[in-house]
Amino acid sequence: VKLSVRDALRSHGALGERVKVQGWIRSTRSQKEVLFLHINDGSSLESLQVVADSSFDNRELTFGSSVEVQGQLVKSPAKRQNVELKAEKIEVIGNCDAKAFPIKYKEKHPLEYLRQYPHLRCRTNVLGSILRVRSEATAAIHSFFKDSGFVHIHTPIITSNDCEGAGELFCVEPLSKINVPKGKFFDVPAFLTVSGQLHLEVMAGAFTQVFTFGPTFRAENSQSRRHLAEFYMVEAEISFVETLQDLMQVMEELFKTTTTMILSNCPEDVELCHKYIDPGQKDRLEHMLKNNFLTISYTEAVEILKQASQNFTFTPEWGADLQTEHEKYLVQHCGNIPVFIINYPRALKPFYMRDNEDGPQHTVAAVDLLVPGVGELFGGSLREERYHFLEQQLARSGLTEAYQWYLDLRQFGSVPHGGFGMGFERYLQCILGIANIKDVIPFPRFTHSCLL
Ligand code: 4AD
Ligand code: MG
Repeated sequence: VKLSVRDALRSHGALGERVKVQGWIRSTRSQKEVLFLHINDGSSLESLQVVADSSFDNRELTFGSSVEVQGQLVKSPAKRQNVELKAEKIEVIGNCDAKAFPIKYKEKHPLEYLRQYPHLRCRTNVLGSILRVRSEATAAIHSFFKDSGFVHIHTPIITSNDCEGAGELFCVEPLSKINVPKGKFFDVPAFLTVSGQLHLEVMAGAFTQVFTFGPTFRAENSQSRRHLAEFYMVEAEISFVETLQDLMQVMEELFKTTTTMILSNCPEDVELCHKYIDPGQKDRLEHMLKNNFLTISYTEAVEILKQASQNFTFTPEWGADLQTEHEKYLVQHCGNIPVFIINYPRALKPFYMRDNEDGPQHTVAAVDLLVPGVGELFGGSLREERYHFLEQQLARSGLTEAYQWYLDLRQFGSVPHGGFGMGFERYLQCILGIANIKDVIPFPRFTHSCLL
């Protein structure tokens, strides 16, 4: 039988059986009469120990080569593992010149070094763990929403709207050799989506609770540790929601339930990331999970920042956006517990947010969640469901014509509703303690870089 490394390591029942295992050599060690190999196929962090006697020619069995090993699964005398594979036949499928291979045996490569090799770094333990956690997290998020009764919606990648109104759009145009005049393929300017929210609002008007989880694109000219040009966003939209607190509860549950699921489904991978990057991260994460998230208003946040303004490059001021340094300070101020900032000035936020009608201050029912190490992880709001308020807001933003369909939703069975988006890569950064967003996505895209 053919087994993955993971199944071989777990197959207590199959002891004594003859099996076939395929993978890449992660380590080789010769002793007098025996050769030890460790084979990994990405199915688990742990590699399978293969024991070969001196009749095997070990010259081709180099670090990085792909091999197929046939033999008997036996109980291992070694402490670190239960099972090992006693080799009867080892076939090298593709050899690897270990000298030329950028990944070196037994070396703890810094993540910055590995970033140069997006096509090879996935063969290291650390990227293996990060990407398996990413896969588990994807499944956990889907299962959270499914268990909570949400319907999954595929929102479009190509769209004619700029949901956030920030002008960070990538245009979609066919190659000129296609027989359609420029700008005429869709007859309207088309872009890669910056958010599926408006499409989700349509669907929340029929399914009540919906979510989407897909790639999102922003032409942000930023080389920061938390921005990508292509990232994944988890977005939810809920009808019949009247308060920000109801939304915040779902956000907190999403964070905590998903994280708990990941910790129970792939503890070794999470542990490796924490140890590789920062051993203190384990406690920081536990701290986030066991405390209730906090809430402060934007106005209170600005007051807190003003008290500490000598610490900042950007002077905190009511009406101005919170800078990264401000977010960082606020999270520390809150004892490194995630904190919701609510009720932002109208002028800072997109047209769709619900007006708080609070006089001269003029705030909207917006909420951002700030988390340790990352800053803004979620952005969300109540949506303006009142026809006349929205009509005015669209007129102010010069969007009346393009968003007629959106206004329609407020005419035909409108309901109070709201939703949020969570940056998936930032979520992974937050739980694993990874400083740079480029290390939690298989193929990062950012300004001046589209490798592979
Ligand atoms: O705050 P944002 O812009 O919110 C929206 O797009 C809403 N329409 C979502 C909604 O309510 N359905 O983006 C949401 C989150 C941010 O909090 C951040 O975590 C992440 O998406 N994000 C990015 N992540 C990586 N790279 C970028 N360039 C990002 N821009 C936003
Ligand atoms: Mg935001």
